[in-house]
Amino acid sequence: MQPKPTVLITGASTGIGAVYADRFARRGHPIVMVARDTERMRAIAAHLRAEAGVEIEILKADLNDLVDVKRIEARLRDDPSIGIVVNNAGTALPGTFSEQSSDDVTRLIGLNVTALTRLASAVAPRFGRTGQGAIINIGSVVGLAPELGMTVYGATKAFVLFLSQGLHVELGPKGVYVQAVLPSGTRTEIWQHAGRDVNTIEGMMDVEKLVDAALVGFDKRETVTIPPLPDLAQWQQYDAARTAMLPGFRQSRAAARYTAMHEGMKTQ
Ligand SMILES: NC(=O)c1ccc[n+]([C@@H]2O[C@H](COP(=O)([O-])OP(=O)(O)OC[C@H]3O[C@@H](n4cnc5c(N)ncnc54)[C@H](OP(=O)(O)O)[C@@H]3O)[C@@H](O)[C@H]2O)c1
Repeated sequence: MQPKPTVLITGASTGIGAVYADRFARRGHPIVMVARDTERMRAIAAHLRAEAGVEIEILKADLNDLVDVKRIEARLRDDPSIGIVVNNAGTALPGTFSEQSSDDVTRLIGLNVTALTRLASAVAPRFGRTGQGAIINIGSVVGLAPELGMTVYGATKAFVLFLSQGLHVELGPKGVYVQAVLPSGTRTEIWQHAGRDVNTIEGMMDVEKLVDAALVGFDKRETVTIPPLPDLAQWQQYDAARTAMLPGFRQSRAAARYTAMHEGMKTQ
């Protein structure tokens, strides 16, 4: 029997990433855990080795540090046993856009966007060549909702959704599976980093439920998985409205509402 592909998971020391490590280990996959807190990863790894009997490797990396990111990229490029990447590491910031410092915003984009994209870029050519492999990118429903007031965080997650959809278009026909997972509020430490008390927010999902649902979407080979959304048809209508606009974008003239002729007609 072929050995199961190794799963590399970023942000595996706690929260959503730690549950992905647990679930993929229990499915019999060797795991490579990536995060900064090695103590936490050691504890999870010891538990998983005993429970699931698979190999668990720990890679300490700060994904806001280019030297560390390049080390993970090299591993993804060169290690053919890695067949699934869970691009999960991410964080949020307290405050509004006007309150956030540009240095903090830059670090947020560095982790949520730049590191995630570099890791996908490192692995995509190998997956494309071999015609197999899966990339799971953790986005957020916030990426669909500027109304929520988490502007840069939401923008990073809108990027993750778009990147995933674009990679699906490019790599899907080659046999590579790309999934964007869009959690909503999930009970993890990220809320502390965002300056919020998770116990004061309604409708929080337990992290195990979130990851188990996301893995149902993974098994179904969904391109976009939104675990909390009750009515899938709403997402399908939203996406259909977007694609219905595409033919309209290819025009040599501006739309009538922007032309002088139209203005002239209005003032007559
Ligand atoms: N929880 C939610 O409500 C929610 C909703 C939608 C989307 N998400 C997304 O889900 C993903 C996981 O979030 P979570 O809720 O599980 O958050 P979390 O509990 O705060 O965990 C974040 C993980 O990312 C790692 N990480 C943070 N900064 C890092 C860095 N510079 N380098 C390497 N690793 C780093 C952390 O490990 P170390 O500190 O050990 O490095 C930790 O393992 C994120 O992309 C988040 O945006 C979460």
